[in-house]
Amino acid sequence: MGFPESFLWGGAVAANQCEGGSKEGGRGLANVDLCPAGERRKEVICGHGKSLCLEEGQFYPSMEAIDFYHHYKEDIRLFGEMGFRVFRLSIAWTRIFPKGDEEEPNEEGLAFYENIFKECKKYQIQPLVTISHFDCPMYLIEKYGGWRSRKMIDFYLKLCRVLFTRYRDYVVKWLTFNEINMILHAPFMGAGLCFSDGENEEQIKYQAAHHELVASALATRLAHEVNPENKIGCMFAAGSVYPFSCRPKDVWEALVTDQENYFFPDVQARGYYPSYARKRLKKAGVFPQMEPEDGEILRENTVDFISFSYYNSRCASASSQETAEGNLFQSVRNPYLEYSDWGWPIDPLGLRITLNQIYDRYQKPLFIVENGLGAVDEPKEDHAIADDYRIGYLREHIQAMKQAVEEDGVELMGYTVWAPIDLISAGTGEMKKRYGFIYVDKQEDGKGTLSRFRKKSFYWYQKVIATNGEEL
Ligand code: BG6
Repeated sequence: MGFPESFLWGGAVAANQCEGGSKEGGRGLANVDLCPAGERRKEVICGHGKSLCLEEGQFYPSMEAIDFYHHYKEDIRLFGEMGFRVFRLSIAWTRIFPKGDEEEPNEEGLAFYENIFKECKKYQIQPLVTISHFDCPMYLIEKYGGWRSRKMIDFYLKLCRVLFTRYRDYVVKWLTFNEINMILHAPFMGAGLCFSDGENEEQIKYQAAHHELVASALATRLAHEVNPENKIGCMFAAGSVYPFSCRPKDVWEALVTDQENYFFPDVQARGYYPSYARKRLKKAGVFPQMEPEDGEILRENTVDFISFSYYNSRCASASSQETAEGNLFQSVRNPYLEYSDWGWPIDPLGLRITLNQIYDRYQKPLFIVENGLGAVDEPKEDHAIADDYRIGYLREHIQAMKQAVEEDGVELMGYTVWAPIDLISAGTGEMKKRYGFIYVDKQEDGKGTLSRFRKKSFYWYQKVIATNGEEL
């Protein structure tokens, strides 16, 4: 019993939060480069504070991040030392196509990822590649308005074809879009959408979502054509929504909020717009333009597995209640839970509930590709960090996941912790919100040696993997 021998233990990062090297290797500028740290970040990532070029006086944390660009060998060696079986990473689109619409890809960018995959191979770590993790070339945003344009589908597929072909010998597991449902909550970061006053934002967001859903289905088809061994997953920000009380109106509110998120994997896993979405979009006056072939594209190219991030459950009420923070959006504060330093609820049982609900819904293999605790770490003089809070969080979540597998029969392929190494926070742009097993000496003001140090959790996770989840 316990986890299957093939269970994929590992960690997950995103290019824009770890690579840096933004001006190296012929890389172009992307939306994620232009999300400043500090007060302006929120409005920028939501598409309301136009940020089309690097501005004086702003700090852009992704430009250097933790400089994985130059440290990848050292970092992957540390992942190998922990015993990783999988490493989830994303491709910076603008390393491969700096503007997005070039005829030929940028060889330097392709070589960079090939070297990473070679390094992974040395330690028998298989890559799990997110094709787009909040990443869109600025040129395409300025010229076409990002994913509001259907033209994006072709540019994205071009990227996919290059990746599937070039990395055929290294990669067989792919995710098409990271947290695709974040297009509704962080539309600039998620899909390169900037809004002008008076625009119908819902219409634009769902139009962009439709384009991404079609692109995801076409990428799935292409991946299977290029290599029948390829397995493609969708990826959404999950976390079941609880009703604040058993009052039917609260239960209804929770159901509708859940459906807002499930809309995306519903389309990607089942192959059609669910009827609740068609009805509600129509009622809200939102009519994404679809081409006659779209229905067939979605129907015939559903994903092979369902992946998701889980940080917390959510809570909904029909009346106004105190709110709590969470992964990029707020929800009603659940009085039964504890909260992280950043005010996110901590709910390990919620992971078991979420796993069960998603598995019931799709009956396809699941993959938890993000789960972790953002916290402040305080290193001692010898750089030792006793991050028992992080170990505690992960232990309880792994325990819940184990119960879902062992006792509930959920089919789970693997678990990649966010993040194995400290990196830039997507939501806040902070460095001090640390998730890693590996500490990076880089501070909030951008200063630091960038040296890496193993935290206590490093050795703990190493043992978890070595015992296949038996010793927690
Ligand atoms: C998810 C993203 O939303 O949550 C990651 O896929 C992100 O990119 C992670 O880093 C944690 O959120 P944050 O805001 O703490 O970085």
